[in-house]
Amino acid sequence: MKRGKSRLEEELKLAKKRVDSLKQEVLYKTISNEKLENQIEELKKNLGMQFEIVSKIGSSPDLARTTGNILRQVRKKMRLDEIAILLFEPNDGRLRHFASYGLSKKKTRATFAPGDGISGIVFQTKKRCLIERVGRDPRFKRWEVDTEDYLDKAFLSIPLKEEKRIIGVVNASAQHISVDYANSLTVLAKTIAPMISLQQMKKHQEDAYFETIRRIMDFTEALNPYTFGHSYRVYQYSLHIADKLKCSPRERDLLGRGSRLHDVGKIAIMDIVKKPGLLSKSELKIMREHPLLGEQFVRGFEFLKDTVPIIKHHHERPSGKGYPWGLEGSKIPRLVSIVSIADAFDAMTSDRPYRERSSLDYAISELKKYRGYQFNEGIVEAFIENYHELEILLKDVKRKSKATDLNDSGFTS
Ligand SMILES: [Fe+2]
Ligand SMILES: [Fe+2]
Repeated sequence: MKRGKSRLEEELKLAKKRVDSLKQEVLYKTISNEKLENQIEELKKNLGMQFEIVSKIGSSPDLARTTGNILRQVRKKMRLDEIAILLFEPNDGRLRHFASYGLSKKKTRATFAPGDGISGIVFQTKKRCLIERVGRDPRFKRWEVDTEDYLDKAFLSIPLKEEKRIIGVVNASAQHISVDYANSLTVLAKTIAPMISLQQMKKHQEDAYFETIRRIMDFTEALNPYTFGHSYRVYQYSLHIADKLKCSPRERDLLGRGSRLHDVGKIAIMDIVKKPGLLSKSELKIMREHPLLGEQFVRGFEFLKDTVPIIKHHHERPSGKGYPWGLEGSKIPRLVSIVSIADAFDAMTSDRPYRERSSLDYAISELKKYRGYQFNEGIVEAFIENYHELEILLKDVKRKSKATDLNDSGFTS
């Protein structure tokens, strides 16, 4: 009986062991499955994020704004307080905020040298840094702005690496940042770095192209003392109007390039441009071709395609009596109207072979007289609303166009 009982106990023990090991196995498989599912989910999320980022940044005309929008989405999804990308500028050897979300203006103005603050340390060591609670971390001491609001927060800084080259850092702060989130943000950094680097190279190349065209443009104008510095002045007046109309940074950028190149078509008719005296009827006819010649020239450059309306239509008038198309009123885009007014203002306040320059009062009275007919009414109002300001601007631009253009054009005396 006793032997039978002990055998039963033995079997029970074995059965329990088997159950325990089965339980362990089931538990392990469940955990593994969960882990696997989580990993697949994470991968899917990361791949989705990468695809979205690549397609958005790859086709973006405004890298900082697009990156800012991506950061806004990431901040919302991950419930971060702040997220920022700082890029290293070799010119002054400092890290500057390139795009950010959730940061005060004061914070975005802060810059760091390599080794300075968390960003500088991460940039220098090329290693990610995740601090669970900032507290009195000595690495924060050297930051230029108030860091009190970070005391109870977690802070993450990730190097932005393109191949082996480090181009900046991605920073994030929140009440809590898990390792999973830190890993996802590392994927973001890895995805975004080559895109930013590529766009930066593209921008440098485009800036170099623009600079070359701009210098040729200035040189062409300098062949005739009556046109010398014209595009530079039109550019300055256009940006002044842009300030008055509170144009966006993108519009200002477009306006800057468009106004600087508005007469680029004249490069093709240099013989007429450099002619010192009055033009004959047939020469005037050719001269009126310059907006279309400019359009043909600029169309060859993908990055300048948005300036085409300014170049092609800066001689249109709201009355429909302008050229080359005779566009009327609201059909003339706002930026085109701005350059048109700046162009006419400079023409009036500059000497011509057949007349001396007009006074500021006369130029203003002409703008007023032809508003709504030759010039966009609202833009004229904005341009002339402050006489004293315009007086200073005119003097300043005239003075600068003599000195700056010579230097900018590269043919210093
Ligand atoms: Fe023109
Ligand atoms: Fe012009």
